[in-house]
Amino acid sequence: MGHHTFDIEKAENLEDEGRYRYLSAEEFRSLVRPASGETLADLGSGTGFYTDLIAPDVETLYAVDVQAKMHEYYREKGLPGSVEPVTADVSDLPFSDDELDGAASTMTYHEFVGDGALAELARVIRPGGRLVVVDWSGRGDGESGPPVDEREELAGAADALGEAGFRVVRGEERDETFLVVAIRS
Ligand SMILES: C[S@@+](CC[C@H](N)C(=O)[O-])C[C@H]1O[C@@H](n2cnc3c(N)ncnc32)[C@H](O)[C@@H]1O
Repeated sequence: MGHHTFDIEKAENLEDEGRYRYLSAEEFRSLVRPASGETLADLGSGTGFYTDLIAPDVETLYAVDVQAKMHEYYREKGLPGSVEPVTADVSDLPFSDDELDGAASTMTYHEFVGDGALAELARVIRPGGRLVVVDWSGRGDGESGPPVDEREELAGAADALGEAGFRVVRGEERDETFLVVAIRS
């Protein structure tokens, strides 16, 4: 795990629609491009705030989170039919090789990077599969999100994904966040 894990006591904050300021529902869906018949994973799904946006379009969406209490919150909120909660660390996923057509992660990369997480993603995402990462950037000014010194940056994330076996096809630094779209080689 990279840095500290999000505090379950603050789970309610993840449901704040003001968060769309940093990543809108439309942008998230257009980045992930969910398609019927696909098996995807949301890495560090939390309360399912972003998971819900892509769930209706896919066959199976694994909501992966290391904290079982986040899944309890999500269950109480209501799980979409395609969503299967998986309590696991991104560095040790209970999926077979190439099982996923793709994966997405919002505001969590800095929490799971390290400990072999990217190698594990390269194992479970099939060749040609798409990985979308949007997270708080170390280049931001810290007006929202985790402390700036706990964050990653686009350049480092792109290098790390390249080394892990992904081809970066899009990368952007913007206000407070960065985004990377990468394809499993
Ligand atoms: C900042 S929250 C973001 C939740 C959600 N992605 C969103 O944007 O609403 C980070 C979530 O990732 C989970 N998490 C942190 N490290 C993890 C890891 N190594 N493996 C799986 N989940 C992790 C935390 O438990 C927490 O629910």
